[in-house]
Amino acid sequence: MKIRKAVFPVAGLGTRVLPATKAMPKEMLTIVDKPLIQYVVDEAREAGKLPKNSAIPAAHRENFPERIAAALKPANLDFVPAASVPMVALTTWQALKERANVKPGQRVFIPAGAGGIGTFAIQLTKHLGAKVATTTSAGNVALVRSLGADEVIDYQQQEFENVLRDYDVVLGTLKGDSIEKSLQILRPKGKVVSLIGPPDAAFGRARGMNGLMVFVFGLLSRKIIRRATKRGVEYSFLFVHPDGRQLAEIGKLLESGRIRPVIDKVFPFAQAKDALAYLEKGRAKGKVVVQIR
Ligand SMILES: NC(=O)c1ccc[n+]([C@@H]2O[C@H](COP(=O)([O-])OP(=O)(O)OC[C@H]3O[C@@H](n4cnc5c(N)ncnc54)[C@H](OP(=O)(O)O)[C@@H]3O)[C@@H](O)[C@H]2O)c1
Repeated sequence: MKIRKAVFPVAGLGTRVLPATKAMPKEMLTIVDKPLIQYVVDEAREAGKLPKNSAIPAAHRENFPERIAAALKPANLDFVPAASVPMVALTTWQALKERANVKPGQRVFIPAGAGGIGTFAIQLTKHLGAKVATTTSAGNVALVRSLGADEVIDYQQQEFENVLRDYDVVLGTLKGDSIEKSLQILRPKGKVVSLIGPPDAAFGRARGMNGLMVFVFGLLSRKIIRRATKRGVEYSFLFVHPDGRQLAEIGKLLESGRIRPVIDKVFPFAQAKDALAYLEKGRAKGKVVVQIR
């Protein structure tokens, strides 16, 4: 058995598609077209990283499932669109479904609906049966509506905190004072799940960090948690973790067409710097992918 290609996201750079023998980073979120762990082991043996005919070392057996989210590539998607999915899909799944427990009929605010996270989060929230409000510039209104957004605020014309009221959940995707302002639009016991920080002590504890880090995170998030508590709402920070079972569930949604990947641009690897520069402008409509070959 051979892995033809493995795909994994690179922080801030969308997703790379690599020949599998080179794609063995410690942390990767992967979609392949055959079960992964056996592939990884076979490839590692072939590359001389594991002795031929040896059993899988215990350390590898323990580490792979923790570090890798593997799932079958949806049959209806080519590698590039499939590669664009795992990071944003797992992040929004873990934030909206797992952490915020979004239910049918609830109201969810997803700022920056035209971005990588936003384009996926809008579709996932609609799939969960909730209503979505989002913010975008005028040029992307049609895009976010096409993904299912019920209420669209042009942030260059209106402040969302003056328009939205009694929301159940906010997904924190925008830096600046957006998280703090979003506390005002939540109903009592509403939740803000922040993807952009500040990290909180619970996050440090869940990741098994030492007491000092937990303390530092507690300090960093003290102000926002105090403000949230005062308003009777909940603040938490989420950092995505690999999860193959969730990725497989997400794969089914993609395969059924309930959710579609939104790709802005695909850059060849030789233009990876341009891809970064493009991302840094903060105007991406969906995902930016760097294709190795
Ligand atoms: N914690 C985690 O595990 C995790 C995982 C993934 C991502 N993240 C973080 O989540 C954040 C969002 O990621 P992303 O990939 O979605 O970013 P992105 O794709 O770079 O976001 C670009 C989008 O933001 C929109 N935008 C910019 N300023 C805006 C504003 N003031 N109001 C509304 N929309 C605005 C732009 O739309 P217009 O052109 O229409 O303005 C553009 O479509 C990043 O900070 C990323 O690091 C965290």
